[in-house]
Amino acid sequence: MKIDTLLSPQELPALAHRELSGTACVVFDILRATSTFVTALHHGAEAIIPVSEIAEAVALRQQQSDVLLAGERDGVRIRAAQSGGVDFDFGNSPREFTPDKVRGKTIVSTTTNGTRALRACGDAKMILAGSFLNLSATAKFLTKLQPEEVLLVCAGTGEGVALEDVLAAGALAELLADEQSDSTQVARQSFLRSKLDLAAAIASSTNGRRLFGIPELRADVAFCSQRDVFNLIALMDAGGSLRRM
Ligand code: MLT
Repeated sequence: MKIDTLLSPQELPALAHRELSGTACVVFDILRATSTFVTALHHGAEAIIPVSEIAEAVALRQQQSDVLLAGERDGVRIRAAQSGGVDFDFGNSPREFTPDKVRGKTIVSTTTNGTRALRACGDAKMILAGSFLNLSATAKFLTKLQPEEVLLVCAGTGEGVALEDVLAAGALAELLADEQSDSTQVARQSFLRSKLDLAAAIASSTNGRRLFGIPELRADVAFCSQRDVFNLIALMDAGGSLRRM
């Protein structure tokens, strides 16, 4: 099993031309999209439909009135003024997705980078949402499955690299320890240097500092830094919905 890593979202457009039929893509948006999706699925959400644009989310709600809408722009919940009059039900804080609110529900989500990265994996053999919260479960699943290639996709921030995504990719690479590309080794070395105080490293990242600056979102940083608290895989089905496995 070869393990390659996309460190930056600037590499996402090239995925459209890459052969991915034997590849399992694991997308990391640690602060916070993929951490949030894993949490929602753990708490009983039926499915998460990641979409790139606000208008796509609103159109899905028009087709299916029972879906809930989630997402952020600039970190905060999408409001009616940004979406042609629809107030979203959730932002992108994992702590909002409690069992009483999500059990049995289908949630359409649009976030700045995370949902875009999930969609960019297109026709890959399989697409997983990864996080520190379910890291070991994801590693066990891949070890058992042995796809030809694992591609660790760091969703990043804007067009740039996000430290916390690279650390998570490195942490998964450390558990898989197979044939690793140079970019995977960059991620792995970075994780090994930070692993003794991972929470502090995540908090020092641009996204960590940004969330610390928003009082009601500050606790998300520590929440998303927890390791292996959920024993589940978040796998995209053929229709483009993430489901619990
Ligand atoms: C993203 O998709 O860019 C994020 O997860 C941003 C956020 O949650 O603030």
